[in-house]
Amino acid sequence: QFLVGRLYKGFWLPEPYAPGILAFQRRFTPRPDDVVLTSYPKCGTTWLKALAFAVMARNAYPPAAADHPLRRLNPHACIPFMEDIFTERREAKLESLPSPRLINTHTPYSLLPETVTTGGGCKVVYICRDPKDMVVSLYHFLRHLQPGLSFSDTFDSVLDGTVPYGPMWDHILGYWHASVTRPDRVLFLKYEDLLQNTGEHVRKLAEFMGRPFSAAEEALYTVASIVELCSFDNMKNLEVNKTGATEWKCKNMAHDSFFRKGVVGDWMNHVSPEMATRLDEIFHDKFRGAGLI
Ligand code: A3P
Repeated sequence: QFLVGRLYKGFWLPEPYAPGILAFQRRFTPRPDDVVLTSYPKCGTTWLKALAFAVMARNAYPPAAADHPLRRLNPHACIPFMEDIFTERREAKLESLPSPRLINTHTPYSLLPETVTTGGGCKVVYICRDPKDMVVSLYHFLRHLQPGLSFSDTFDSVLDGTVPYGPMWDHILGYWHASVTRPDRVLFLKYEDLLQNTGEHVRKLAEFMGRPFSAAEEALYTVASIVELCSFDNMKNLEVNKTGATEWKCKNMAHDSFFRKGVVGDWMNHVSPEMATRLDEIFHDKFRGAGLI
């Protein structure tokens, strides 16, 4: 049912989440020090959540600590997902969180609460990824929810823009333009860059969130321990992430729904050269002149 969407102001919102997204848009009141972690699905949301949480919580929980929350809880349990919160009317939980709050959504930029996108608002961090790797990851995710789903159905829905939260190009462009016009408020990250130099991006993230690393922390290799704590191998092998103990709605999600391969270029094992060219051409065309590629 996640492939069934409702078209709203140019985006295909997943049917089960559409009311929650609209309620989030109308009712969310940001605090100035909130940080909204946003992404196109399957582009590294879980990783970004873990990194941002580890950065924010590093005083209370040194990253190397054996009892660090990320060793006991799935990253999804550490940071509330707005689609769930507002669909299930659990706003009281949101209000009870101490500042600075980290929250998460896949809502397109143009549908975010106006209180977030205008004026002082709060900070927004976005992560995107090569669409070819995204579509492979999405297929492996959705096939657990929709048995019988084929890879070509998933691919076609990305191509025609009807994929959940699609069109993907408009989702990316909305955040890209916002990051260009409001660089102090919107940070735009790419999964591939994060993977290539995680430490440098963790520093960038911490600085953007108003929590730069001190010289003492650098001397203590705090950045390196955060990178290690949140690394794919560490996260994938944590018992809590293996058993799927998560606040996420589908408690029966398979282990590989959120931790599968964690690499760049796995699309080559699934996408034919012709399909890759079609996807690349569409995205190049949509991104023309945006300064994004
Ligand atoms: P793959 O399916 O290509 O392996 P999301 O969290 O937005 O659902 O994205 C899931 C993708 O991020 C999956 O990609 C998953 O393996 C990858 N991922 C999860 N944790 C990661 C980590 N710590 N480092 C790198 N990639 C990670």
